[in-house]
Amino acid sequence: MEVTLTVNGREHTREIEPRLLLVHLLRDDLGLTGTHWGCDTSNCGACVVWMDELPVKSCTVLAAMAGGRRVRTVEGLEGPSGLDPVQTSFIACHGLQCGFCTPAMLMTARWLLDHDPDPSEDDIREAVSGVTCRCTGYENIVRAIRHAAAGGSP
Ligand code: FES
Ligand code: FES
Repeated sequence: MEVTLTVNGREHTREIEPRLLLVHLLRDDLGLTGTHWGCDTSNCGACVVWMDELPVKSCTVLAAMAGGRRVRTVEGLEGPSGLDPVQTSFIACHGLQCGFCTPAMLMTARWLLDHDPDPSEDDIREAVSGVTCRCTGYENIVRAIRHAAAGGSP
């Protein structure tokens, strides 16, 4: 079957198997390997992208379901004026170690701050609860998102 979707502002049309998952279309076909694939069972959250402005776990979305939709991945986070404040804040606050969860954390953080510019620590912890970090203990992730809420300057 044929599917046409917009990813990071660019339209793509592909011939796909109906069972293909969005995470695999993004990574294997479009080369957007910033979206990570950790479990395939909707547990780890490493595969979070936006679909029509909502965070989704792209291992739970069929690529066919993204037809006609707008998908945003971590590669689409950086704007014309440079890195997004959540990106500079994760750097400034050491919000990552191995980095495997980081793209999903960044996409989740950006979505949270777009909807709540001044989230509490509890709000942040709840927002990122769908993404598992095996490295950091979350302290610096929470600090980074608070830093981004305050402007994200390095
Ligand atoms: S790959 Fe783990 S939730 Fe999608
Ligand atoms: S930084 Fe390693 S899993 Fe989060």
